[in-house]
Order: sequence, then structure tokens, then C-alpha cells
Amino acid sequence: MNPLPTPFRSCRGTRPARSARLAAAALPLLLLATACAPDMGKQPKYKPLAPSSTFRDGRSARPAVKGTVPRGGLRLDERFFKGRSGGNLVGTAPIQVNRKALERGRDRFDVFCSPCHGHVGNGDGMVILRGFRKPPSFHIDRLREAPDGYIFDVMTNGFGAMASYASRIPPEDRWAITAYVRALQLSQGARIEDVPDRERPKLLGAKR
Ligand code: HEC
Repeated sequence: MNPLPTPFRSCRGTRPARSARLAAAALPLLLLATACAPDMGKQPKYKPLAPSSTFRDGRSARPAVKGTVPRGGLRLDERFFKGRSGGNLVGTAPIQVNRKALERGRDRFDVFCSPCHGHVGNGDGMVILRGFRKPPSFHIDRLREAPDGYIFDVMTNGFGAMASYASRIPPEDRWAITAYVRALQLSQGARIEDVPDRERPKLLGAKR
């Protein structure tokens, strides 16, 4: 058995040590008792929008310095945030369109767009069946030929009776939805020539 080093051994079990331990245990309780809520609650402070006589404009909250950019608010990439380049709508989405993006796009489309546009984009969603203005089908030539930036722009700024979704769908997801809308357009407008040779018999068989 190894004896404890002297400094520890010397003070074990002695009276002063026991009372010191007691004091240490009681300290948090003591602090709780003294630092009670009313003092904190009554500290001098301005509540939001409270007036102040300190400043000439009478407001306690100071306006942000001109040109202040909120954290995460620097949006210099015009292609990504506005779907434009030099003011013109971009032709293709500035994200990597892969399976992951398309699956995300489908998920978000089904949540945010399908209630009106329907699951394949025909414009016959439940909200429309209940009387909301019917949107055009995504499968008309005009929307097939529209650049990716256009689909993104409609979501970002709204279009006619359709509200903007910018506050609810972040840009990355708006691009994913754009890619999925393109996939829907392909799927609904597919011709037999688009199907690889070896897959065709399966489809033709299924039709009969
Ligand atoms: C509340 C119903 C509603 C929802 C939800 C909705 N839309 Fe629409 N959308 C409309 C209507 C209505 C129009 C036609 C507006 C008009 O012509 O006044 C439209 C038009 C469009 C158009 C065609 C614009 C044109 O040039 O004709 C696109 C593209 C579109 N929406 C995409 C989307 C996408 C993507 C979403 C999901 C993020 C979405 N919409 C969600 C109702 C909706």
C-alpha cells in the first residue's frame, strides 16, 4: 500500500478540514440565496423599441451604420442568388446537378410547389382543385424553353398570383427545385428515342 503524499495525508480527517469541506458545500447555496432574481430584473436597461432622451432621434436602439451587412448576408454571387449574370437570366443552374440535388429538389417541390402545380407539374394541385387560379402546365413549350434562371426567378420574386418563396426556400434549394422541374419536364415530354435501345422492349411491353 502506497501512503498518500504528505500534504494530503496530513490534513485528512482533521477538524479544520471537515469544516472547510462543509463551507465549500454550502457556498453554492449561499450564492444562490444572495444572487436572487429581483436585482437582475431591476438593472438599468432599455427594452426593445423603448424611447431614449440620450440620442437626438429619441430612439434607444442605434440604427446600423450605413453599408452594414448582416452575418451571412453578403450576396455578391449574382448567378447563385439572383439567377442572373450581367442582368440576364442564366441558362443553367449554378449548382452541381446530381442525384442528391434532384432528390432534394423533389422533396422541396413536393412540399412547396405540388399543392398548386401538382406532383408532375400539370397545374392540378389540391389548392387549384379548391379554386385557386390555375397555373400553366410546366410542360408547355414556353416553360420548357425558359432558361433555368427563369424558374429560379419565379420562385424568388413570385409571378402574378404566385407569391415569392424567397423567405421560405433558401437559394440552394430553389436551384435544386429548378433542376427537379427540368427533370419533370424531361419525364413528361420523353420520346421513345430518348430511351436507350436495351430498355425500350420493357416499356413497349408494359404498354400492351
Ligand atoms: C399557392 C399556389 C402555388 C404554389 C404553392 C406555387 N405556385 Fe407557381 N404558380 C402559381 C400560379 C397561380 C401561377 C400562375 C400565376 C399567374 O399567371 O398569375 C404560377 C406560375 C408558376 C410558373 C410559371 C410562370 C410563367 O411564366 O407562366 C412557374 C415556373 C412556377 N409557378 C413555379 C413554381 C415553383 C417552382 C413552386 C414551388 C417553389 C411554385 N410555383 C409554387 C401558383 C403556385
